[in-house]
Amino acid sequence: MTRSSVPPFPQAVFSPVTRNAIFIVATINDDAASRANVRAWCADVANLTRAIGKRVPSGNLTCVVGFGSHAWDALFGAPRPAELHPFREFGAGGRVAMATPGDLLLHIRANHMDLCFELATELMARLEGAATTVDEVHGFRNFDMRAMIGFVDGTENPVGEEAVHFTVIGDTDPNFVGGSYVLVQKYLHDMRRWGALSVEAQEHIIGRTKLRDIELNDSVKPSWSHSSLTTLEDANGDEIKILRDNMPFGRPGFGEFGTYFIGYARSPQPIEQMLENMFVGRPAGNYDRLLDFSRAVTGGLFFVPSEPLLKALAERDPGIAHTITVASASSRDIPDAQTTQNMPSGDGSLAIRSLKGAPRYE
Ligand code: HEM
Repeated sequence: MTRSSVPPFPQAVFSPVTRNAIFIVATINDDAASRANVRAWCADVANLTRAIGKRVPSGNLTCVVGFGSHAWDALFGAPRPAELHPFREFGAGGRVAMATPGDLLLHIRANHMDLCFELATELMARLEGAATTVDEVHGFRNFDMRAMIGFVDGTENPVGEEAVHFTVIGDTDPNFVGGSYVLVQKYLHDMRRWGALSVEAQEHIIGRTKLRDIELNDSVKPSWSHSSLTTLEDANGDEIKILRDNMPFGRPGFGEFGTYFIGYARSPQPIEQMLENMFVGRPAGNYDRLLDFSRAVTGGLFFVPSEPLLKALAERDPGIAHTITVASASSRDIPDAQTTQNMPSGDGSLAIRSLKGAPRYE
């Protein structure tokens, strides 16, 4: 088979919207055999996803795997993704975006929970004895894409080429082209207090109308609204976006109501800037009032290698500085059409624009 010049394909960061998701965060046990087990596992992820997904083609089963900063060094050594670091905590006035343990993230999505469950079962069985789950959340898609707090979530997500531009690493980090960063946080909401607010007060907090999901006019939208504080611009005044796929979760019998936040970007910087704006405020003190009703109980930052790199990592020896040799993908590496529905591949290419120059964020 002749190899094409298509850049390394991302994992299924651009999965179509699905009805269900399982988020698993695990730590990797601190011994050489466990690390070898996890490395070998990297080669299985795509094959298992394909095998299980084939049984229900309309189910859109995908899995994205990410690695935490310490885990990357222990598992794979050099080279390492340029911007991978431990989760940075932000906080003020009792609000804390806290870091919690996590070496490995699995983001499994499908239209049916049985597909997610089957894949999670197979993947975790292969990690038995090598990894310890520290958090697992089963999310569901709520009515009209509404978050647990009743507002439509995901509206301002970038799509198509714009989504690729904002989430996929280009030539700024040549060893890791086709990769992304992903930040996750588990939030719990005080739904009793949130529900006691008027709809108008809730709309001011989010910055959009509740029923029709229209952005509030600047004359009435507070500077402390969620949408104001998570809107970033670069030095040229162009908006900087991230790709989110939050999921509601909960256990009504236990009074637990939550949102699992997940944001993908080509650099951790914009997501961290959003967190600082939300938790500390822009300017300091002008914080996101959603946090008066929601608290983050986990936080992790992970690097998501491209699909061919994930497979190749199975062969890495952390003691040796490796040259990355997956600069182009063969047609075998390109995922099924079902996993690339939102890709702008009119000409079959990823259209990764030049990402030169570190962006500045406000
Ligand atoms: C309690 C957890 C959260 C909930 C329930 C939530 C909910 C929402 C809702 C309802 C919207 C408006 C519709 C939309 O454009 O999606 C929104 C927008 C947004 N959120 Fe969140 N969010 C949460 C946490 C976060 C976090 C932690 C970040 C970033 C670190 C973030 C980043 C954004 C961004 C970038 C937008 C779009 C802003 C715009 O362009 O107008 N969200 N969120």
